[in-house]
Parts: sequence; structure tokens; C-alpha cells
Amino acid sequence: MPENHVFDVLVIGSGASGLSLALRVASRAKVAVLSKNKLSSGSTSWAQGGIAAVLHNRDTMESHIEDTMNAGAGLCHRDAVSFMVERGPAAINWLTEQGVHFTTREEIDGRDSFVEKEYHLTQEGGHSFRRVIHAADATGKAIQSSLEDKARAHPNITLFENHMAVDLVSNKNPDPKKRKCIGAYVLDTRHGRVETFRAKMTVLATGGASRVYLYTSNPDGSTGDGIALAWRFGCRVANMEFNQFHPTCLYHPEARTFLLTEALRGEGAYLRLPNGRRFMDKFDPRAELAPRDIVARAIDHEMKRLGSQSVFLDITHKEPAFIKGHFPTIYERCLKLGYDLTKEPIPVVPAAHYTCGGVMTDLHGRTDVNNLYAIGEVTHTGLHGANRMASNSLLECVVMAEAAANDLLSRLGQEKISGDIKPWDESRVTDSDEEVVVTHNWDELRHFMWDYVGIVRTTRRLQRAARRIDMLSGEIREYYSSFRVTPDLLELRNLVTVADLIVRSALRRQESRGLHYTLDFPETDPTMDGVDTILKPARRPVAR
Ligand code: FAD
Ligand code: SIN
Repeated sequence: MPENHVFDVLVIGSGASGLSLALRVASRAKVAVLSKNKLSSGSTSWAQGGIAAVLHNRDTMESHIEDTMNAGAGLCHRDAVSFMVERGPAAINWLTEQGVHFTTREEIDGRDSFVEKEYHLTQEGGHSFRRVIHAADATGKAIQSSLEDKARAHPNITLFENHMAVDLVSNKNPDPKKRKCIGAYVLDTRHGRVETFRAKMTVLATGGASRVYLYTSNPDGSTGDGIALAWRFGCRVANMEFNQFHPTCLYHPEARTFLLTEALRGEGAYLRLPNGRRFMDKFDPRAELAPRDIVARAIDHEMKRLGSQSVFLDITHKEPAFIKGHFPTIYERCLKLGYDLTKEPIPVVPAAHYTCGGVMTDLHGRTDVNNLYAIGEVTHTGLHGANRMASNSLLECVVMAEAAANDLLSRLGQEKISGDIKPWDESRVTDSDEEVVVTHNWDELRHFMWDYVGIVRTTRRLQRAARRIDMLSGEIREYYSSFRVTPDLLELRNLVTVADLIVRSALRRQESRGLHYTLDFPETDPTMDGVDTILKPARRPVAR
């Protein structure tokens, strides 16, 4: 018999945002945290560069705010930007209290510091000041493991690995104002059975959707599940056309997902053409440290112009000890793959990296549906606008986890656990004998999204993608209603929904801005400053 679980708070996702929220509420609530794979399987563990926060006494909140607004190309919400930036230093303090060890100046420069525990701050694109605090070049791993240790030790937190949310469940109140989320159907992926989780409050912390593209810096699970779940549940999504491509992922047949942190350029690395010439100054006075949309587009342009497979990232002019001290993980990984960072330029290409749009929330993490919150990369809060500035994402995860935790706790006392959720109905489905259809559709989707909906777009390519998405959606609907659910099928179903949202948003934005660049409308339209692309679900959620 599938289990029926009951908790005060159901957190779907175990990265920086989900675990932070769980730890913030656990003293007053029984919490379940789900991860569809291992706890550490989200993007958080892979984060390299660090977290942006105003920590140096000569840096200012105003400067961090203005840099973020500039990178966001006219679409950041100033209130959201100020909210996150002002809470940055407290967020870092909280992380250190959870046991995260950030690199100190003394550790990295070997220099004594007069200030006790003076952290080393690195530089990244778009920032006009060194304000990125980090744990060497593996910041995410340090955060994930400290938060996991705390969560594992907490008596009020129950962790469910290999549990994948299939769909959210509502109280079915016909009055939209009274409709609320009462939990979720969840697939126990090891046993293949769908369980129910009931909770007073549900939180989506499921990360981004960059796996919708063929080449990505993200782990396998970044399939936009939370965005698709919320959309099917009746929540609006915003700015899905802004998909960030990180300029420098290793170009290597065996490691197409490996990122070479922007901090390398922050610490002086150059981008070079195959003939050894630097080129970024042709595109932006900030050269290698321009915001990511500009650098990725410049690389794409040069690769297409020259017909080359990659460009090169070169930090060989720095001392080997400096390189190994600042970037130990990357140095070792590259060496294993046959490249010595201290001796040769490394081939790099852009790859899908971050989903700037997502489920719309306010600054309490509330979505359009009562008792459903969303935090982290799954959301659109207004912080990132048309292009996220480097290292602002982990900041948003930690800040919004606290904001949502406070709001949720203030309302928890007035809520009751709902009555039973109807068990998952499998009476009309069988085991699939055509798994190949799912694999094939996965590949097809990610290929055409890369080819038609990538760094440079045209209306015709977007329309072509839209037609293919329509076809795939039909096939997947049919497949979903005939066969038992599997993780691959659920992810594909979610990815197709996300692809549809991306293409519809991109078609709607008839200008180029930030990460959305289309040859048919190459200029930025000033009348679109501050205008988000908001999509509203037409239908009410359907139960299976
Ligand atoms: P994630 O950490 O992605 O976690 C998502 C969680 O949701 C996982 O536990 C997953 O299992 C779970 N999940 C998903 N779907 C389901 C489902 N259906 N059911 C159950 N569970 C589900 N940002 C920075 O600010 N600084 C950096 O230096 C930086 N470097 C990066 C480097 C790389 C290589 C990558 C990929 C990203 C980087 N980012 C960086 C971005 C940042 O890491 C992410 O945006 C952030 O970690 C997202 O955290 P999250 O908690 O929202 O989601
Ligand atoms: C990086 O280290 O380059 C990634 C930083 C980020 O995505 O914010």
C-alpha cells in the first residue's frame, strides 16, 4: 500500500533554498524535504564562484543594487533588488552559523589580515566591486554539505531522497480565493509507487530548467519540474524567455557540463580566439567582465564567424601557485581531462546555465495559490530581470528562504491539515512497453531548443519550435494517460511544458533585451522597460 504522509510543511527540493527554509521553520513545525534523487543532486552542489553580498567596508548597498539593475537590462524590480541586497550580509552570517566555511584572505593570499576572519572576496562579471564571498572554487558544495548536515541532525526534519513530486493537490474549492494547496502526489522512484503527502503549507524549491537545452552546465535534474507543477496548478509564470547561457563551459567530449567559473575572468583570465587574439573589448568596454549575456553572445558571434568549435580561456599569465590556490577543483578536474590550466588556454563554449524567469512570487515567497510558496531558481521574484548578475542566485535562495519561512510560520497556526487526499489512480494505466518514445522525445526536444531557441533567435525559428512542441505535447499527453508514471516520463512532461512557456514568452517579446536576442527585432524597445512577460494558465488544474 502506498504511504500517506502528513507534515506541517512540505518542502519540494533540497538545494540551498529548500534546506534553508526547512532549517528556518523546523523549530516550530514538522517538515518533510523531498529530493527526486540524492539530497545533493541539485545545482547548489555544483555552484563554483560564490555569493554576492556587500561585505567590504568600501562597498555599498547602492553599488550592488545598481550593478544588479544594470545587468538586468531594465527589467529588475527595484524593490526586489533592494530587498535581497540589503539582506545579503545577514544571509552570509546565517550560512556561517550553519557551519559553512568561506575562504579567508589569509588562506588564499597567505597574508595576515588585521581584521579577524577577513574573507577573501572575488570579482565576477557586472560587479563594480569585489563582493563575491566563496569557498575556494566549490562554494556550492560547502553550502550544500553544511545545510545537509544540519538538516539530517534536526529531529523535526524528515528527508525523503528519491521522492519526486508528480503534481500538487488542491482543496478543490471552486472559489479561486479559497482554493489552496493541501499537498502533493509524490512518486517513490525506487519502488515505483505514488504516495500522498498532506501539509498545511507546501514550498516549491525545485531549481531551474536549463536541461531543456542540449548543452548545459546544470545537473540532470534541472528539468523545470516546479515551474510545470505550479503552471498546471494555476500559478502565473513570468519572463521565461530569459535563459542564461554561461559563457565558459569546458569544450570536451566527456565533460560538456563542466563549468569554468566566471571568477577565473574576475581574477584576470582572458578570452581568446583560436588565433590567440583577445576579442571581448570589441563588444564591451568591460571586456571579459561584461555581464554574461554580452559575453556569451560575443563568443557565439565569433564562433559562428570563424566556424570554430570553441574559443579559449587563458589564465596562464598568472603564477601557477595563484591558479592552484584560487581554483583547486577546476585545476584538478581540467588536469584529469588532459588540460593544464597553468600552462595552456582551455577550450570553452557557452551552455545553458540559469532560468531567470519562473513562478511569480511576492517578496514573502507567496505564489498565486494559497498555502503554496516558491523560492530559489524556480521563481521569478523580480531580482534578475532580463539577465541575472553572477552570484546573485545563491543570495536569492538564502534570503527568500528566510522571508518565506517567516511568512509561513506567521500563518501556520491558523491552518489545519486537510482531510485525506484521494489515492493515486492507476486503474486505467499499464506498464509502458515503449520507453524508447520517451528517450527519443527527450533528445528531440533538447536538440531543437538548442538550435531554435538558443542565444540568437528569430521569429521563424521560434515558430518552428512551437510547432514541434505542440506535436510532442500531444504525444506525451497520450503516453501519460496510458502508462504508469516513471521519472523520465514525468521530467519529459515537465520539460515540454517549460519549453512551451519559453517559446511563447520569446515570441511575445518583440525586441532584444538582456538574454533574449532576436534577429527580427535586434533593438531594445524603450517602451518595454519594466514590462515583464507574464503568462497566465488558461485552464484550471486537472487531476489525473
Ligand atoms: P537546486 O539546488 O537546483 O535544488 C533543486 C532541488 O529540487 C533538488 O534537490 C532536486 O532533487 C529537487 N527537485 C527538483 N524537482 C523535483 C521534484 N519533481 N520532486 C522532488 N524534488 C525535486 N549561483 C550563484 O549564486 N553563485 C555561483 O557561484 C553559482 N555557480 C553555479 C555553477 C553551476 C555549475 C550551476 C549549475 C549553477 C550555479 N549557480 C550559481 C546557480 C545556483 O547554483 C542555483 O541557481 C541554485 O543553487 C539553485 O538552488 P535551488 O535551491 O533553487 O535549487
Ligand atoms: C560561476 O562561478 O561562474 C557561476 C556563478 C553564477 O552562476 O552565479
